[in-house]
Parts: sequence; C-alpha cells; structure tokens
Amino acid sequence: MAVPSLATVVADRLTAAMRHAAPDVDPPDPQVRESDHADLQANGLIGLARRLGRPPREVAGEVVAALAARKAGGPLAGCEVAGPGFVNLTVADDALRHQMAARLADERLGVGEPERGLTTVIDYSAPNVAKPMHVGHLRSTVIGDALARVLSHLGGTVVAQNHIGDWGTQFGMLIQHLHEHPHTGNHGIEQLVELYRAANATFDTDDAFAERSRQRVVALQAGDPETVAVWRELVAESTRYFAEVYEHLDVRLTPRDTVGESLYQPHLSGLVDDLRTAGLARDSDGAVVVFPPGHVGRDGSPVPLIVRKRDGGFGYAATDLAALRHRVSTLAADRVLYVVGAPQAQHLRMVFDTATAAGWLPDHVTVAHIAFGSVLGTDGRPLKTRSGHAPGLSDLVDEAVARARAVVADRNPDLPAEALVERARQVGVGAVKYADLSTSRGRDYTFDPDGMVSLTGNTGTYLQYAHARVRSILRRTGDEVGEASAGALLAGDGPLEPAERRLALRLDSFGDVVTEVAATSEPHRLCGYLFTLAQAYTAFYETCPVLTAPPAQRGVRLALCRLTGETLRTGLDLLGIAAPERL
Ligand code: ARG
Repeated sequence: MAVPSLATVVADRLTAAMRHAAPDVDPPDPQVRESDHADLQANGLIGLARRLGRPPREVAGEVVAALAARKAGGPLAGCEVAGPGFVNLTVADDALRHQMAARLADERLGVGEPERGLTTVIDYSAPNVAKPMHVGHLRSTVIGDALARVLSHLGGTVVAQNHIGDWGTQFGMLIQHLHEHPHTGNHGIEQLVELYRAANATFDTDDAFAERSRQRVVALQAGDPETVAVWRELVAESTRYFAEVYEHLDVRLTPRDTVGESLYQPHLSGLVDDLRTAGLARDSDGAVVVFPPGHVGRDGSPVPLIVRKRDGGFGYAATDLAALRHRVSTLAADRVLYVVGAPQAQHLRMVFDTATAAGWLPDHVTVAHIAFGSVLGTDGRPLKTRSGHAPGLSDLVDEAVARARAVVADRNPDLPAEALVERARQVGVGAVKYADLSTSRGRDYTFDPDGMVSLTGNTGTYLQYAHARVRSILRRTGDEVGEASAGALLAGDGPLEPAERRLALRLDSFGDVVTEVAATSEPHRLCGYLFTLAQAYTAFYETCPVLTAPPAQRGVRLALCRLTGETLRTGLDLLGIAAPERL
C-alpha cells in the first residue's frame, strides 16, 4: 500500500473533526488543496455550514477546535479559520521530511494500485485500411495510449483494441481496380492513397466498373480465394504503415492489438437475429433497424440505428454491436472506453443503448465514449491542407520534429547527426503529444508547431527541459544516489524554506493526480500537475542553492531534486513522452 498523501491524511482528519463537531449531518468533502495562503487550504467546510444553516466562520471555528483537540501526532503544525470560512493548514516540517523520505524509498512514488483486478478494454487509434491516418486518428492514438499507460500503471489489466476499418463496400472498387491495373513493386502508403483516389474516380465515372466493383464485394464476402488474397495484401500493407507510425510516435500499439471490423463479420447475421428475437430490431424499407428509445433527430422523429442495410450488407453499427458483445463476454471487460472523436457521439450512444436494451451489458460494466474535439489551424479553423483535406498525421508530426531539431541543434552545436535525429524525434513527438493531451480533451486546440516546442510555458519541451536540468545537477554530484537519499531527508534539520515546502507538497500529490486521471479519463490533469511541479522546482532552484549548501541542507535539497526528476520522468512516461537525459 502506498503511503497516502498529506492532503489525504489531512482531509480524513477534517472529516473526522466535522463528524465530531456536527454528529447529525453527513460531512461534505473537505476539499483540501495546496494553496498560496498556507500549505493546504480546506474549502469544503462552507458546505457543512450550509447543511447546518449556520454562519460558516462559526462552524469552521468549531471544526478547527475539534481538529486541534485530536491532532496529537498528526502532520499538522497549525490550522486557522480564514476568509469566509476556509481553513488554512500548516504541515509540520518533520511530517514533510518523513513524507518525502517515504516517497523516495518507494519506486512507485506514492502511486497506488486501485485498478488491480479490473479489466479495461480501450478502443483507440482505429485508422482505416488503404487510407492515410489523419489528425483525428492522431488524437485518438495519443489519448488512448496515455489512458492505457495510466490504467496499467495503476495495476489494471488493459486490453487495447485497434478497431481498424478493414471491411466495407469500398474494398470492392479497390480490389477491382488493382485487378485491372496490377501494381508492381512494393506498395507503400502513398501508393495505397493513389489507388484509393484512382479507384474512386473510376467508380464515379464508369458505370461498368462500378458494377464490376459491386460484384467484387460479393466475391469478397463469399470468400473467393483470389479476391480475399488481394484484400489480405491491402490490409497487410496498411498494417505495416500503421506499425511504423506507432513506433515513430512511441505508441505501444502492436499488430497483436489489431481487431479489424472484418473479424466480426461471421457474427453479424446471428446478432441481427438476436436483436429481432429480443423484439428490438425490425424491418424498415428493406433494411433492418433498431430504434433505441430517446434518440430523436432535429425534427423530433426517432433516429434508427441501421444494423442491416437494404443491400443486405451489415455496416458500422452492427459491427460495433458485435464488438461490444465480444468485449464484455469474451474479453471480460469491467470497463470499455471508446476514444473516438466527438462527431460519433450519437452513433456510440445508440450502440450502447441498444446493447443495454438487449441485455448485453451487465450492471457492473461501464462503457464510456472518451470524446475529443478538433484540431484547429493557427487561423482558428479546423486544420485543412491546401487541397481541403484533413492533413495526414505524419505531416503534422514531421513539422513538429523539424522545429524540435532546430531547438536541439541550437543548444547542442556539436551533437553527432544520429543523436540529433533521435533527440529531435523525442522532443518533436513529445511536443505534439503534450499539446494534444494538455488541453481538456473535449475542447478544440490549435496546432502551433512553433509554440509547442517552446522551452518556456506549458509545453512538453519545457517539461523535458526541467527534467534534463534536474539530471544535470545530479550528475554533477558524482555519487547522486548516496547523497540524495531518504536518509539525507531524515537527517535534515532546521526549518524548510517556503520553496522547499511548495515543492515537497507538489511531489507528495503525484499519486492522487494519477488516480484522478484514471477516474476521469482526463490526461490533461496530469499535464497540469507536471507543469506546476516543474514551476515549483524552478522556484526552488532559484531560491535554494543546492550544490553549495551546507551538508545537511545539501542532502535534503539533492533528495528533493532526485524525487522531482523521477516524478517528472514517470509522469511523462505515463503520457507516452520520453524524458531524455539532456536537451
Ligand atoms: N475507423 C473509424 C474512423 O476512422 C473509427 C472507429 C472507432 N471505433 C469504433 N469502435 N467505432 O473514423
């Protein structure tokens, strides 16, 4: 069990004191936070006063008295009522020193394992075969990967599901076009994109080709060996391209996580039968549809979820229903997260509601749409290339890596070319991911390649730089681990400086923040935390000399440096961002 944070311990004590002072009401969350006015501040007592219908300052005074009467041995050195009924809390120096020593001795840095025993299926990335990945796939990939890392770090079992689009009528025209114009040589993604464009153009203008394409779909569905072989080749080529992108982005998805839409095809007709038997699906104009209750369009009429199309084919919705059933029954998910753009909100709600109505979602299972907003250009409009398309993911990443290269080369004129390439990749990719993850995910954000590699401000580059600065100090001590130890912290005496206290309190809450990210599926909370941690470290470094301090103080400060470095590195890793030793 991880040692709880001081904020948690203090919150528990305040809750007990509230129970003591007002035994007849349910105590509200005391809302203990770090504060500019004291080490910690509790704002939740105002809620207690409201429940009691009494003046907040008076109630806060009674709770503080109850706390003072029971505080023996606790971490608090002082508490007083402030403002309209807040409580300002001061933590004892020794409690801070002990807490930091416990964190330093714990390789998990105070992060607990609340996810142990829980299985989370995460549906993310999900690009489409024979199409380039675009900026929407970038967001899904980056957010999904961060959530996967956080949940597994908290002890959970994570099953990644890359629900790639590898099935559908478009494969008829792609395969038919390839059949009529065989490719030679190796087919990269560029060639696939060109194939898509050419097949589409012919399909739109040549009726005979369109008809041959439709027959090709029938052949594919019937398992015609030649057709299936070409289809497999298309999927394999795309999968190789996806794998390259994931590797370049330090994303943990592998081909083993790929569960394409095609895999669910054998189950769809049974699924539609089951929906009929359950009285949920019915015929409508030759199609089979479900009207999950509560889904109405702008004109107030019910919106159908189409599970079988008029041409007899099964579409996106049927596949999603089959996938959900598989995730719950076979993968034994306790939680299923769909990291998919906001425009698919209605589709997913209808899928979830239909699955619930069909009895495929037991009560203990939660399903959630982890929606995200759009990426905007610096003109404030959704990103578009000059030709009007969503820009390819690789173009965006390449742009950031080029900017990062300039930053790194400027700081390290003598860096060998190979090292420069790798460091620029780590910085550029980290910048793209951080820019994405640091905005709360429902909101749109602006893709600004220059701003995102800035060494100052709330950027991934700034955090990597803060980490590298810490590492540089520790390198200069030679024997970093011996000196910067838990023992050094406990041996320290004399009062801690305000900047040391601030830093220690920030370090202390790492575990609470990681737990919060898992509970809310909001990685921006971890970004915000790491940014304030880096700022607290900078303030500490500017006011508290480390290497030139007298021995006892030097040990304490080095220990704080080491803990800061490890917390930054671990936090960045949970976001999928590298923490190079040097920038
Ligand atoms: N392939 C889809 C797209 O590119 C995303 C799939 C999302 N996942 C799902 N289960 N529907 O838009």
